[in-house]
Amino acid sequence: MPQIILFSGSANPHLAGAVARELAIPLGRATVERFPDGEVSVHLNESVRNREVFILQPTAPPVDPNLMELVAFADAARRAAAGRIVAIVPYFGYARSDKRGERRDPIMASAVAAMLQGAGVDHVVTIDPHSPQLEGYFRIPIDTLSAVTTLALSLRHRVPQNAVIVAPDVGALRLATRYADIIDRPVVVMHKRRATARATLVTHIVGDVEHRPALIVDDMISTGETIRRCVDALLGAGAQPEMIVAATHGLFLEGAPHKLDVVSVREVVVTDTIVQTFWPKLKTVSVAALIAGAINRAIGPTVDESVPFEAVGTTD
Ligand code: R5P
Repeated sequence: MPQIILFSGSANPHLAGAVARELAIPLGRATVERFPDGEVSVHLNESVRNREVFILQPTAPPVDPNLMELVAFADAARRAAAGRIVAIVPYFGYARSDKRGERRDPIMASAVAAMLQGAGVDHVVTIDPHSPQLEGYFRIPIDTLSAVTTLALSLRHRVPQNAVIVAPDVGALRLATRYADIIDRPVVVMHKRRATARATLVTHIVGDVEHRPALIVDDMISTGETIRRCVDALLGAGAQPEMIVAATHGLFLEGAPHKLDVVSVREVVVTDTIVQTFWPKLKTVSVAALIAGAINRAIGPTVDESVPFEAVGTTD
């Protein structure tokens, strides 16, 4: 019996299938159902005793049901005497809750880390989480992969020579710098202020954008509000109406595709950490090979030192 087994939760079976193909292994068989009251029911249909169990489940919307499903998978594997349980969480929901906004607020990223460890997860693999703090909430190993190389290589020939790489807020500056390491263009940063819980304002732009096209980069697009305000601010500052948007995670909630469907935005490029539905400007690149590489390293006897750290390493 092969030592490694890869299960897919129901959040992204397409990506799990692509990872399994990269590894040339079949997906593990499991049954996931919901009880009438919404509780999740998971049954592993094959033995995991002493095996290396990988469970791929992004905790994307609906975040809480997907998270509980991951917990159920881990708990089932632990009780069935799995050798090691690795949770592959390509998109880590709640990662944005990495500090208290105010007194008497929770830090949900920390609570989720505790929940996964309590369920028996021994190791976590994730991709471009919102902030590197996430690693600090785990007592177990965590591999923080980055899709920046994959995304940047996929679009570098489409970024005009005179373009700038734009971080829509200070938090995205490091990410933008890493894009700039691959696509050699100047970096521009926007200063964003939160006007209300749901709305933000660009207060000023650091860098020269006049008559230049732009590659706008971020870790995620949720409602599309941040990117849309960035596009409007760039246009207001005289940038060329030729923009590409790239982000690792495309949640596209609350009419985001509509907000980004403006003539100045040529294309929006995201990865398949989250299942995407087609819309005309959207392009998707796969992180299956990135994840398969992480699995190979996790089960391999040694780290392949020939792989550049940037291709596998942390987001920071
Ligand atoms: C915030 O700091 C993040 O990096 C993203 O910019 C933000 O979460 C995107 O959210 P939305 O698309 O709703 O503006």
